[in-house]
Amino acid sequence: MCTSTITAATWNEIERVGRLVAERDDAWAIPRVSAEFLHTLVLAGGYRRGLEIGTSYGYSALWIGAALAHNGGLLTTIEMNAAKAALSRETFRRAGLAQALTVVHGRAEDVVAGLEGPFDFVFLDAEKSGTRGYFDLVFPKLAHRATIVTDNVTSHEAELTEFVAHIRAHPRFCSVLLPIGSGLEVSVKLDPFATTVTLDGADWVI
Ligand SMILES: C[S@@+](CC[C@H](N)C(=O)[O-])C[C@H]1O[C@@H](n2cnc3c(N)ncnc32)[C@H](O)[C@@H]1O
Repeated sequence: MCTSTITAATWNEIERVGRLVAERDDAWAIPRVSAEFLHTLVLAGGYRRGLEIGTSYGYSALWIGAALAHNGGLLTTIEMNAAKAALSRETFRRAGLAQALTVVHGRAEDVVAGLEGPFDFVFLDAEKSGTRGYFDLVFPKLAHRATIVTDNVTSHEAELTEFVAHIRAHPRFCSVLLPIGSGLEVSVKLDPFATTVTLDGADWVI
């Protein structure tokens, strides 16, 4: 899939990091089907300013970053583990994506406020119990019509219950669980200036 949006160098790193994740017990990565979906979603949405919280060894960032790079965009990805952050930087260099992917080493709680937004695509995949806090930090930095994707809504249902209830009740979001991989919650921020008009009997959001 997507042979024209993922270079041979990036494929090599996707496969290498995939093997590494399977071998190590300190490495986690989204399933391949989730990665393919996120790559396609970024292409479909034409997003250009991406933010990921939870890099690990860079598997999801390779897929998301390749799509953002194809769109002419950039991904900032945050990882609190110094060794993982350093190895991910090296992975992105080998993938030929060093210009498009920036790894920020630190805790999201400490670094998000200092990042320059706005971001139009956000992937939340760090400590599950911290997700509501990441959302609160990211919210002021979101572009109009930004999309947030949150992983593990099915696999870590209990830890994510409060966050999922919050974003689904939020007046500025439309949010739905897609049963892909570990459960991806896809949340679209609504434009505050949007209004509904009725034309020929149909409602249109403009
Ligand atoms: C599930 S793994 C991320 C997997 C990665 N998104 C992928 O699919 O390849 C979660 C990562 O988040 C990092 N992490 C956890 N809490 C964090 C925080 N508060 N700030 C930054 N990174 C955090 C962990 O060190 C871990 O490497």
